[in-house]
Amino acid sequence: MNGFGGEPLLPPIGSLHVILRIFDVLMEMDLLQRFEAYVAAEKKIEPKDWMPDAYRKTLIRQISQHAHSEIVGMLPEGNWISRAPSLKRKAILMAKVQDEAGHGLYLYSACETLGVQRDDTIEDLHSGKAKYSSIFNYPTLNWADIGAIGWLVDGAAIMNQVPLCRCSYGPYARAMIRICKEESFHQRQGYQIMMTLAQGSADQHRMAQDALDRWWWPSIMMFGPSDAASIHSSQNTRWGIKRFSNDEIRQRFIDSTVPQAELIGLTIPDPDLTWNAERGSYDYGEIDWDEFNRVIAGDGPCNAERIERRVTAHEDGSWVREAALAHAEKERARREEVAA
Ligand code: 3HC
Repeated sequence: MNGFGGEPLLPPIGSLHVILRIFDVLMEMDLLQRFEAYVAAEKKIEPKDWMPDAYRKTLIRQISQHAHSEIVGMLPEGNWISRAPSLKRKAILMAKVQDEAGHGLYLYSACETLGVQRDDTIEDLHSGKAKYSSIFNYPTLNWADIGAIGWLVDGAAIMNQVPLCRCSYGPYARAMIRICKEESFHQRQGYQIMMTLAQGSADQHRMAQDALDRWWWPSIMMFGPSDAASIHSSQNTRWGIKRFSNDEIRQRFIDSTVPQAELIGLTIPDPDLTWNAERGSYDYGEIDWDEFNRVIAGDGPCNAERIERRVTAHEDGSWVREAALAHAEKERARREEVAA
């Protein structure tokens, strides 16, 4: 049997090379079967466990994108810390933005347990190689946008992330438990801002409605492409990374958010939104997938600005990293001196 260019594809049967290769393949098949049975039994995979390369790769992809989303997600809100309407709102927003930084750090750490260097994942974000959530490429024009982000964006994040607390990869699942608790607080503070505005003056009500009008569809897009277009869903569901499909979680979010909008007298900007009694769910209008694809390809309203800001922040912070390393080195030398 020949491979490309007339080269023999396999050495003669019986050679030690072939026997070892067959042994490797059988071992790998056995490990894969055991891995899949282990995951199917709802047991957690830990960093030192054997895992298929594709499982490791898809987790690195998803967890690093998730970490980048948390970090880039600080920018649109951080922009409003100095302009929050009261000291109380300022303190709350500062704590929230700080929480997002913490989420990014837990997630970069979880990602590192898979054998990648944090610096490399950050470099991928800065070079435009790595994705982050589409939602953070939209501008925050006024204070109501901070309410809409908390209510809708953090609300969507929780809907997507609570199932990730049961992810088959232990370090990711454990990081998600704390993250979801904090996101839940974020969602409530956002809804409370929207409620205050919606029940305030006519102008404030208009601000709240305008923010909902601008953030609704981008929030709906956060759940990713439709199930038919989702490339990773079926394998990642089989491996216990994803528990529900993109469309299932999107539907849950819509069903739970519509009554919240009604309660505070706001209207969801979707003329096709109707209750479907047979399905026990809302039918909703067509999502603008062209817009989604443009934004994730880097051509959203704020993509360039967001990356530029992250790169500048990273460069400005280099002296802090250098100082921390120098301090750690001094401490190590001091410990060695004492021990000697
Ligand atoms: N923005 C950017 N890219 C997106 C996206 C979005 N909203 N939704 C999907 N994509 C990308 C995927 O990353 C994938 O690209 P890749 O192959 O280059 O990596 C491609 O579109 C195809 O999508 P799939 O449905 O096949 O991808 P997944 O199965 O990974 O599903 C996901 C997408 C549901 C976002 C999943 O990755 C996920 O659950 N990720 C973890 C949660 C997360 O990252 N959330 C970010 C939200 S923001 C946040 O948490 C901050 C908080 O403070 C609000």
